[in-house]
Amino acid sequence: MGTIEDVKERIDIVDLVSQYVALKKAGRGYTALCPFHSERTASFHVDPSRQTWHCFGACGTGGDIFRFIMKKDGVEFRDALHTLAERAGVALDQRRDPVEDAHRARLYEINEAAAAFFHSTLLESDAAHAARAYLEERRLADSSVERFQLGYAPNTWEALLQHLAARGFDAKDVRNAGLAVEGDRGAYDRFRHRLMFPIRDDRGRIAGFGGRILPGDALGAGDVHAKYVNTAQSPIFDKGSLLYALDLAKDAIRAQGAVIVEGYMDAIAAHEHGFANVVASMGTALTERQVTLLKRYTRSLTLALDADAAGSEATLRGVEVVAGAVDRESTPQVDWRGVIRQQETLAADIRVLTMPAGRDPDETIRADPDRWRVLVTEARPVLDHLFETTASRHDLSSPRERSEVATQLLPLVAAVGDRVVQSHYLQRLARIVQVDEQMLRLDLRRARSAAAPRRPASTGPGELDIARVVNPLVHDAREEFCLALLFRYPELRAEGLDITPELFAQSENRALFDAWLEWSDEGESFEASLAPDLRPQFERVVNLDLPSFDDDALARALRSTIGRIEQQRLRLAKRASVAVIADLAAAGGAQIAERALAAWRSGGHDAHGPEDEADPAAAFVEDMEAGLKVHQQLLEQQRGTGHPAR
Ligand code: GTP
Ligand code: MN
Repeated sequence: MGTIEDVKERIDIVDLVSQYVALKKAGRGYTALCPFHSERTASFHVDPSRQTWHCFGACGTGGDIFRFIMKKDGVEFRDALHTLAERAGVALDQRRDPVEDAHRARLYEINEAAAAFFHSTLLESDAAHAARAYLEERRLADSSVERFQLGYAPNTWEALLQHLAARGFDAKDVRNAGLAVEGDRGAYDRFRHRLMFPIRDDRGRIAGFGGRILPGDALGAGDVHAKYVNTAQSPIFDKGSLLYALDLAKDAIRAQGAVIVEGYMDAIAAHEHGFANVVASMGTALTERQVTLLKRYTRSLTLALDADAAGSEATLRGVEVVAGAVDRESTPQVDWRGVIRQQETLAADIRVLTMPAGRDPDETIRADPDRWRVLVTEARPVLDHLFETTASRHDLSSPRERSEVATQLLPLVAAVGDRVVQSHYLQRLARIVQVDEQMLRLDLRRARSAAAPRRPASTGPGELDIARVVNPLVHDAREEFCLALLFRYPELRAEGLDITPELFAQSENRALFDAWLEWSDEGESFEASLAPDLRPQFERVVNLDLPSFDDDALARALRSTIGRIEQQRLRLAKRASVAVIADLAAAGGAQIAERALAAWRSGGHDAHGPEDEADPAAAFVEDMEAGLKVHQQLLEQQRGTGHPAR
């Protein structure tokens, strides 16, 4: 189900805004005449890396894609959300249906009961001795068996059904939960003679199970011979929306980034040895939803690939999967340029860890935990990895193959935004393919100008734009910190009520703050009062790691965060007006630009000194506004509209 974040991920602010106004590239961003008021100089700016816009002119406001539509269409957040969700092809979570809620709650309950049954059977039942022996053989620690609540599904047709029936769950419930199958003669247990892995969602609720085959024969029916069997798809179990061990890995991932392995056993071995930032994709292609889950906690994703995969075409696809979060089968082609471009501008960090030949993470970690530590630190940035695999797949003594390598890698190098970094890879490519670097540079320019134009914003959900998906959601850490303080410390309520909502440029933050302003702290809890689509962001924010504060420090922290947010915005404003002045200079108004700049630099101070010397932010505003005013007057004058200059 879609969330605000899904919508944000799929709509690029530049695409969106450029449908309404003509954007012009300026520095790292774009400028335009403000669509919201009439003006002659472009004071409207779009910042693609932050996915925000701002009008530094008469409007003096800004925000993200939602705020743009709110202002453009004069609608509320919710309407803007719906407009954009439709455009992005995201189906939004509907308001929770209490019946549906109850149904899901029951499924979680059944799963809990089943997990407890499997677990105690594993620990206590005589019938489980083969399973226990197997765990020993695999050297799994008792503590892991506890922590991951591993279990054993006995080799019978209805042990689980009977156990659950005694606890008030009928066969229909158990079937709905995907734990029983309907046969000719009634329902029977889906899992028989299997080692059971409860699969928890990020909040720790059991969504389903994986059951591993064990030595010895299982009663026939269904996938008796499959290595793993999963719970059937249910309203709460969708493998593509879950990552095994994420509930235990969240904090470590926040601190260290995420390492993604394939198997349950791999994740368990990692956690057992203190590598708590490891999650498992459960064997299937990593989905967009899984990446979205991870991006709540980190931008740094490391994909652990086994040596076979790393040396083959599959590696490229593996990376594609993390980078693009697309389905392996359905999307054979990758916009690597997009991946790398985003990596540059957004400082996303996608790395590839190659396992030693013939070993999976489980074996590697158990053999030598330090080796794993080294492997993780040695994980290569995507581009390095692509260079290495591409080069190793070709015979570099053959000119034809060298040319192929150049053809494959050059577009990737062209996509690198940072000139210094790009140069580095270009030199490297020149060495590999034995072509003069200057020649490559020429080709590079060609590659760049041939670069595909931006994806039209109407891309449906089926055709993902990798460039956008890799874009780690642009979260504003300060805004979120500020909200976290307000939500976590009721004593800040009074002070919080004074904050102007305009402080929050990110829509969800703004919407959360608006909701918090409206919420009366006497009735239901703030969380309960929230619309469902705001809850994910609320949860993210409220769970942020905060240092512990005493009362004084708390109020100070709030105030200084607010101050910083304001300052940051002012810095952006300043950058923007410098761009305007530079534009003007380029257009021939050099003298005027210079005067404007000088006026701006000195402006605030002698014209009308800042009211509060102790407040650098206020001083800055005065300064800037004075400068801009002069600048605008000069401009008007130049164009002969008759406003006198000072
Ligand atoms: P061990 O072989 O016991 O070490 O388990 P593993 O977790 O290392 O499994 P493996 O590396 O073979 O596969 C990785 C993951 O893919 C598993 O943990 C499962 O989540 C999934 N998987 C593998 N085989 C199957 C299968 O036959 N069916 C399903 N549904 N999932 C599978
Ligand atoms: Mn394994």
